[in-house]
Amino acid sequence: MVAYEITVEGLKYQYGKIKAVNDISFKVIKGEIFSFLGPNGAGKTTTINVLTTLLPIQKGKISISGFDLRTQPDEIRKSIGIVFQNETLDWNLTVEETLEFHGRLYAIPKKTRKDRINELIQIVKLEEKRDEFVKNLSGGMKRKLEIARGLLTRPKVLFLDEPTIGLDPNSRMRIWNYIKKVNKEGVTIFLTTHYMDEADQLSNNICIIDRGKIIANGFSEVLKQSLGMDVIYLQTDQDEKTFKIIKKMKEIKNIRKTPSELMISVEDGQKNMPRLIEQIRTQGIEIKSIYLKKPTLDDVFIHYTGRYFREEKKKKINI
Ligand SMILES: Nc1ncnc2c1ncn2[C@@H]1O[C@H](COP(=O)(O)OP(=O)(O)OP(=O)(O)O)[C@@H](O)[C@H]1O
Ligand SMILES: [Mg+2]
Repeated sequence: MVAYEITVEGLKYQYGKIKAVNDISFKVIKGEIFSFLGPNGAGKTTTINVLTTLLPIQKGKISISGFDLRTQPDEIRKSIGIVFQNETLDWNLTVEETLEFHGRLYAIPKKTRKDRINELIQIVKLEEKRDEFVKNLSGGMKRKLEIARGLLTRPKVLFLDEPTIGLDPNSRMRIWNYIKKVNKEGVTIFLTTHYMDEADQLSNNICIIDRGKIIANGFSEVLKQSLGMDVIYLQTDQDEKTFKIIKKMKEIKNIRKTPSELMISVEDGQKNMPRLIEQIRTQGIEIKSIYLKKPTLDDVFIHYTGRYFREEKKKKINI
């Protein structure tokens, strides 16, 4: 039987008239990395803040590690760790002191504490800043220290609110690997992010939230496959003729011409791409480029909301 670390039923949260979280329900499996993915203002931080007892529970039922949030908030506080979206560091401590104090506060034994601090300082590449005061760190460095501090303890559930926001790609990758390591040591991880790749890299199970509502929830691969279509992008030396030939193929669900290429929607692209190539080549048409694009989480978002995840990308829907 599947054991759940977190269950949320009918959660609502309003700031005055603003319905930030509007009747959401989901479950987090014990031992998994669960991603709560959504654009700015979707309601992610509000949800995390209610779950971690920082905001009062207005409506709904929440259980974490077997404790009820309304009646046992203290027990919940003891079994969780949090990395906030906003900076919460003490500017008058050094990098090492920040970690050392946190480790002592959570009574991590000396040897483990020392090893983990050394390891984390390396992971977030703050070796040279070990004795520097927090106030003298760059924004990205502060973020890294904040994450390192959050990853020092091993609570039952670790909440990470936009952990790698504003970090460079290498740092993000190293932190993802460390999050995976912490998870392997038995910590259930609840992560909010507005990065599709982060959710995809870290989680199997993804919950997509938009405007306070859950729009899709499930295994990333299943969500993507549920859209059913792959897209083949094709450039040839005779696009007009190719268009006519492909249109007749029964495997092809849809074909569109853009100024630079043909976009072909097809079920099971991996199987059908070779057939397509063969058909075109036998007509003496030269293929300049061809590639297959599997649906992404971006496509899942578009499918359910009719909008692009990033608002600035106002292109037409492909699938
Ligand atoms: N303290 C507050 N008072 C009033 N409205 C708030 C407050 N905090 C958040 N909101 C509103 O609630 C909604 C959800 O905000 P929330 O911070 O939960 O989103 P988010 O998904 O974490 O976004 P982001 O990706 O930008 O961090 C937004 O419309 C926001 O303006
Ligand atoms: Mg937020």
